Amino acid sequence: MKKITKAVFPVAGMGSRFLPATKASPKEMMAVVEKPLIQYAVEEAVAAGITDMVFITGRNKRSIEDHFDKAYELEAELAMRGKNELLRIVQEVIPKHVNCIYIRQVEALGLGHAVLCAQPVVQDEPFAVLLADDLIDGEIPIMKQMVDVFARHHCSIVGVQDVPRGQTRQYGIVSSTNLEADVERVNGIIEKPMPEVAPSTLAVVGRYILTPRIFHHLAHVKPGAGGEIQLTDGIAALMLEEQLLAYRFNGIRYDCGSKLGYLQAQVAFGLKHPELRDEFAAYLATVKC
Ligand code: UTP
Repeated sequence: MKKITKAVFPVAGMGSRFLPATKASPKEMMAVVEKPLIQYAVEEAVAAGITDMVFITGRNKRSIEDHFDKAYELEAELAMRGKNELLRIVQEVIPKHVNCIYIRQVEALGLGHAVLCAQPVVQDEPFAVLLADDLIDGEIPIMKQMVDVFARHHCSIVGVQDVPRGQTRQYGIVSSTNLEADVERVNGIIEKPMPEVAPSTLAVVGRYILTPRIFHHLAHVKPGAGGEIQLTDGIAALMLEEQLLAYRFNGIRYDCGSKLGYLQAQVAFGLKHPELRDEFAAYLATVKC
């Protein structure tokens, strides 16, 4: 089985929950402390040994391309002013051995459709998908954990975590049987079920490793929940012909697609930040609720 060398980052969504912040700039460029969400996701992929980053972009996404590109004027300016530490930070946004590839999703027809747009680049290899608005903090980066599971089982894997039953309608939910520690064999997956009918509370969050057969299914699934081509529906069809695993990752997930999750991430990352943590903790201790 081939190694995972390509990661797909769907970044063409509307980001409507963050309007007006996302009116002219993408949700994935919102920063947690000083780093944009998309950079955390790319760093996670790099830590998993992935070298080709495939961004599925839409309107208003130029700033993502600019972020991972060389910034000649800014670098010259920082060098001239002797701001060498900042210059290093700007130059090290992405390692030199990593390739960035941009594909335009002309219409935001859904996450499944966005992943299908990556087919011409991914072709017949297994690949990773990372949703940058799910920021996951793990001692071992989450995609690295999943690549290690893939190396043992050679099949598609979805990242999962338990959610409160009342929240099942925000997620794809799996039914499964236990295979080994933290790994489940999936026998059903359904997009956004109501709590009363959800088969479990094990929710798929924004990390996937998929075999290329997924493209066949995504090309054939009909629009599902919300009238969108759902990745979950493609995975459900894939599961009928190939093994599908669910991996309970070790880490804390912040749903930065929601305002509350985004604020929680700011606090958590602020409290871990080497330059800020002491002052920030002292400040938080003074905040009255
Ligand atoms: P979401 O539904 O969470 O993101 O899609 P959204 O549509 O941008 O946000 P809201 O709900 O309007 O606030 C999950 C991921 O799939 C991408 C999004 O960019 C996000 O990373 N996506 C979604 C696409 O790339 N294309 C689509 O057509 C839909």
